[in-house]
Amino acid sequence: MRVHEARRDLYRRLAREQGYRSRAAFKLIEATEKYRFIAPGDRVLDFGAAPGGWMQVAAELVGEEGLVVGVDLHPIRLRGRNIKEITADVHDSGVGQRVWLALGGSQADVALSDLAPSVSGVWELDQGRQAELTLRVLELSGRLLRDEGYAFFKLFEGERSQEIRNEFKRRFRAVHTIKPRASRSVSSELYYYCEGWRGAGTAERGGHPEGHDPS
Ligand SMILES: C[S@@+](CC[C@H](N)C(=O)[O-])C[C@H]1O[C@@H](n2cnc3c(N)ncnc32)[C@H](O)[C@@H]1O
Repeated sequence: MRVHEARRDLYRRLAREQGYRSRAAFKLIEATEKYRFIAPGDRVLDFGAAPGGWMQVAAELVGEEGLVVGVDLHPIRLRGRNIKEITADVHDSGVGQRVWLALGGSQADVALSDLAPSVSGVWELDQGRQAELTLRVLELSGRLLRDEGYAFFKLFEGERSQEIRNEFKRRFRAVHTIKPRASRSVSSELYYYCEGWRGAGTAERGGHPEGHDPS
C-alpha cells in the first residue's frame, strides 16, 4: 500500500471512530486548531457541505448559540439545533437570498468552501469548474460575509489558481496557504485560510444585503 493510501485510510478510520461523516472533517479541524477562526456563537456558511463533516466540526465549535448553514447540490440531513441546510446549486440565482433568510437576515462571521465538481478526469476542465465555483463563493460572500470576517477555501491547483489567489488577496487582508495532513499528498488541492474580509465593495456586483436581492 502506498503512503498516501495508508494516510487516506487512516483518516477514513478516524472519521468513522469519531462519528464524522467524512475524512474531510480533519482538514477543518487542523486549520481551526492552527488559526482559531471559528468561535462559540459564530455564524458559519459552508458551501459544498455534503455529506456534512465540516458542518459537524463547525457546529461543535460554534456551540448552541451559534449557527451553521450548509449549502450543497445533495441533501445533507444533519440534525442539530444550530444547523440549517439548503439543497441548491451555488450558481442558482436565488441561492444568496435563501442563505440570507437562513441566517435570519444578518451576515456570517465565517465562510467555508470545500466545493468540488464531479471530476471528469480532464484536469484543465475540472480545475476550471472548481475555479468558477470558488469565484461564485467570493461573489456570494460580498453580501453574506461580515466585514473583517474569515474564510477557509479549497482550490484546485492549475491554470487558473494564480488568478483566484489574486482575488483572495484583493478581497482579504491576509491569505495563508495550507496543505492539511488529511488532504492526499497526490491530490492537487490546496486550502486557503483568509482573514479580514474587505466587504462587499470588493465584489464586482457587490452591495449590502439590505435593500438588495442577495442572489
Ligand atoms: C469534497 S465534497 C465536500 C465535503 C464536505 N466538506 C464534508 O466535510 O463532508 C464537495 C461537495 O461540493 C458539492 N458541489 C459541487 N458542485 C456544487 C454546486 N454547483 N453547488 C452546490 N454544491 C456543489 C458536491 O455535491 C460535494 O458534496
